[in-house]
Amino acid sequence: MSFEISELYRTDLPPAESQWGGIPAFSFVGGNNDEENVPVAGLTEAVTRVLQREGRKLAVYNLGGSPLGHEDLRSFICQKLGVRASTSVDLDEVLITSGSLQALDLVNNLLLVPGDNVIVEEATYGGMISRLTRLGAVVHGVSLDQSGVRPDHLVELLERCSSQGRPAKYLYTIPTVQNPTGSCMPLERRVEILEAMEGQQTAIFEDDCYADLLWGCDRPPTLWELDAPNRRVIYCGSFSKSIAPALRVGYIVAESPVLQQILSLKTDAGSGALEQMVVAEYASAHFDKHADRLTSVLKAKAEVMAEALERHFGDSVDFEMPQGGIFMWLTFAEGVDTAAFSTEAAASGVEFNAGAGWSVDPHWGANKMRLCFGNPSAESIREGVQRLAQIMEMASDGGH
Ligand SMILES: Cc1ncc(COP(=O)(O)O)c(C=O)c1O
Repeated sequence: MSFEISELYRTDLPPAESQWGGIPAFSFVGGNNDEENVPVAGLTEAVTRVLQREGRKLAVYNLGGSPLGHEDLRSFICQKLGVRASTSVDLDEVLITSGSLQALDLVNNLLLVPGDNVIVEEATYGGMISRLTRLGAVVHGVSLDQSGVRPDHLVELLERCSSQGRPAKYLYTIPTVQNPTGSCMPLERRVEILEAMEGQQTAIFEDDCYADLLWGCDRPPTLWELDAPNRRVIYCGSFSKSIAPALRVGYIVAESPVLQQILSLKTDAGSGALEQMVVAEYASAHFDKHADRLTSVLKAKAEVMAEALERHFGDSVDFEMPQGGIFMWLTFAEGVDTAAFSTEAAASGVEFNAGAGWSVDPHWGANKMRLCFGNPSAESIREGVQRLAQIMEMASDGGH
């Protein structure tokens, strides 16, 4: 009998990934960044400078410093949150992670066991939905309006979970440039949400992945800041969207004892130190200017996409202009199933995220679609949207 290693696999694995087929010509999936705006010159200079100055520290795990991560980077994050989000954070309240995906995994690992209730926004990051499903959490979707989480529905869900004797472990929210809706929760709504959660045994997991790319309003203080006396919030952020996703640099902000507990679960001997050194070196000199430039490029791309959607889809699609970030969240008529168009679209080089994957209730999400305008050029956005409209029209005529 020949040896078959798959016979030895754990039996509870998720399905294997399919072979990577390359990035299609009109890719509106995922959360990729604008190529022209990766600050290559600034990063090159930062690499050289920091390696010349401190490169020998790479001889030692964690650069010989705290397992929370490179001190210059943690210090920059404290300063950035102070200046950009009126948020005060101490150095020992920041843990550097390998992208904020690792932050999601660590916080879930800290808090969740199968059967736990969690509340997330009804439309939310697909990577979080799939994680929670895999962990066996019971996921409740809280309704959203243009200001974000609806407090009345939140209260209803909190009460439902408590009455089962299993208070929700956390509310996961992306308040500043929500993924996928692109909305920003105003200050008053933040306060209402915190009030609605008073007296509950439920934490708040605030994901600010896109917050540095906000253009539609002034940035409100973080929930972490607003809740400072109560200490109910664990916060995470990332440099993926503001600098580059392939760097894999993210962070968790939490009270020091919480981070010390999380460190017991972060068994990777530290996130990549060179990336941390380079981001710290680059960002402490250039972050604001870079983020401002990138944000205005993304705003212009959002406008190109909105115009193309209006031109090619007309009344058949509904959307709000995002307040920042890289996504447009589209709603089609009741009964449309956007996933049904994926194969035909892919054959024409167009890829999009069907709404079901970004929705707690896949039926509710079926007539929705997320398009990322971060990576494609303005020309590709125009042509890709036109192709998508043609494909959906032809396929609908053909009986979809
Ligand atoms: C809301 C949200 N959180 C976290 C992540 C993970 O990003 P990264 O691991 O690149 O920091 C993403 C990625 O798209 C996201 O959209």
